[in-house]
Amino acid sequence: MAQLWGGRFTKQTDDLVYRFNASVSFDQRFYRQDIQGSMAHVKMLAAQGILTEDEQTKILEGLKEILEDVESGKLKITEEYEDIHSFVEAKLTERVGEAGKKLHTGRSRNDQVALDMKLYVRDEVKEVDGLLEKLLETLLKMMEEHMSTYMPGFTHLQKAQPVTLAHHLGAYFEMFKRDRMRMEDIYKRMNYCPLGSGALAGTTYPLDREYTARLLGFEKATVNSMDSVSDRDYLIEFLAALSTIMMHLSRFCEEIIIWNTNEYRFVEIDDAYSTGSSIMPQKKNPDIAELIRGKTGRVYGALTALLTTMKGLPLAYNKDMQEDKEFAFDAIDTVKGCLVLFDGMISTMKFNKERMEESAKNGFTNATDAADYLVNHGVPFRDAHGIVGKLVLLCIEKGISLDELELGEYKKLSPVFEEDIYEAISMKTCVEKRCTQGAPSRAAMQQAIAAERAYLEEKRRIL
Ligand code: ARG
Repeated sequence: MAQLWGGRFTKQTDDLVYRFNASVSFDQRFYRQDIQGSMAHVKMLAAQGILTEDEQTKILEGLKEILEDVESGKLKITEEYEDIHSFVEAKLTERVGEAGKKLHTGRSRNDQVALDMKLYVRDEVKEVDGLLEKLLETLLKMMEEHMSTYMPGFTHLQKAQPVTLAHHLGAYFEMFKRDRMRMEDIYKRMNYCPLGSGALAGTTYPLDREYTARLLGFEKATVNSMDSVSDRDYLIEFLAALSTIMMHLSRFCEEIIIWNTNEYRFVEIDDAYSTGSSIMPQKKNPDIAELIRGKTGRVYGALTALLTTMKGLPLAYNKDMQEDKEFAFDAIDTVKGCLVLFDGMISTMKFNKERMEESAKNGFTNATDAADYLVNHGVPFRDAHGIVGKLVLLCIEKGISLDELELGEYKKLSPVFEEDIYEAISMKTCVEKRCTQGAPSRAAMQQAIAAERAYLEEKRRIL
C-alpha cells in the first residue's frame, strides 16, 4: 500500500480496511481531470510566488509525461495506491524528486476530489448534450418524411383521433429538447471552481482562486469553502436529468415494443437491432428496446442512491461522499450507450404506413369528425354524438369502418348526411383540418419543424 498519510500512525492499516477505504479501482477513471486540475493548481502556485519557476516547470513536465504514459498504456494505475490523487503524486515525486512533494501545497484531497468529479461530470454533460443533439437531428429528419403517414393517436392506449407519425415523433422531439436544455442549465449552475477551498476552511497560503478557475474554464471560483467540498448537488441534478432522459427513452421503447408486435405491425425493427430465440424459430425480439426500458431502473437507482447517501451528512466533507462515484459512472455510461443504440434502432426501423393508416380507420378515430360534420350542418353536438355512436355500433356489428358504411345507412340515422361525408372523414381531411398551432396538420407541422430546424441550427453544441 502506498498512502499519502501515516506520520501520526504507529501501526499499518489493516489490509481489509485499506481495501475497503481505497477508491483507486474506480476513481482512476478521472486521471485526466486530476492531472488537469494539478497543472492549473501548480501554475497558480508559481504565479503567486509559492513555487519557483523551476519547480513549476519540473512539475508540469512530470505531470505531462504521466498523462502521456497513462494514455499510451506505458504507465498502469495499480491498486497499491489508495486513490488516483495518491497515484499521481507518488509517480510525480518518483520522476521529478523534491519538487513533486510540493504539488499538494495549499490543497486537500477534499477540494481536489470535488474539482476532479466536477471536471469529469462537466465533460460528460457536454457529451450527453452532443448525443441528444444527434438524436434530435434523427427525429427531425424522420418528422420531415412522415407528415402524411397517418396513424391512430391514442389515449388510454385506445385509438382516439388520427395523427401523423411526424406529429407523434414531434412529441418526443420536444421531450429530448427539454432534456438538452437541462444539460445547459446544469452546466451553467455547476460551472464554479471548488479548488482552493482546502479541507474545508480554505488555506493560509495566498492562493488566487479566480486564476485557477479561469485556467480550468470555470465561470468563477465557488463562494463558500465548506459548501465547495461537500456540494454534490450538481451530480444529483445530472442524475435526475439522466433519469428523465431514460424515462423518455423508455416510453418510446415501450411504444416500439407494442408497435412491433404481430397484432400491431406498425414497425419492423431492423435485423441488426433485433435478436432471435434459441427455441422458437419464428421469433424476432425487440431486445434492444426492452433493454433500454429495463436499464431505466438502473439509472433511477443511481439517483436514489446518491440522494440517500447525502441526506444525513453534516458539513463538511465526509467519506460517505466517495460513494458518489461508482453508481454515477454506471448511470452515465448506461445513458450514453442507450442514446447511441436508440438512435441507431429508430433510424433503421421500417414503418408500415398502410397498416398504420388502416388501423386509424378501423379504430373509428374519425368518429369525432363525423360528429363535427353533423354539427356543421346544424345538428346540436350532443345529438351528433349520439347519432355517430349508433353508427359506430352498426359498423362494429358489420365488422367495417365508418369509411365503408353505405350512405343509405348514414341517412337512416340522419338525413343530413350526403356523399361528401366520406371526404369529411377521410384520414387526410381529419388530420389536415387539425391546424391549430401544435396540431398534426401538414401546415401546423411545417411550422413546428421550421422552428425546430432553426433551433438546431442555432444550438449546435451549446457548450
Ligand atoms: N477518495 C475520496 C473521495 O472520493 C477522496 C477524498 C478523500 N479525502 C479524505 N479526507 N479522505 O471522496
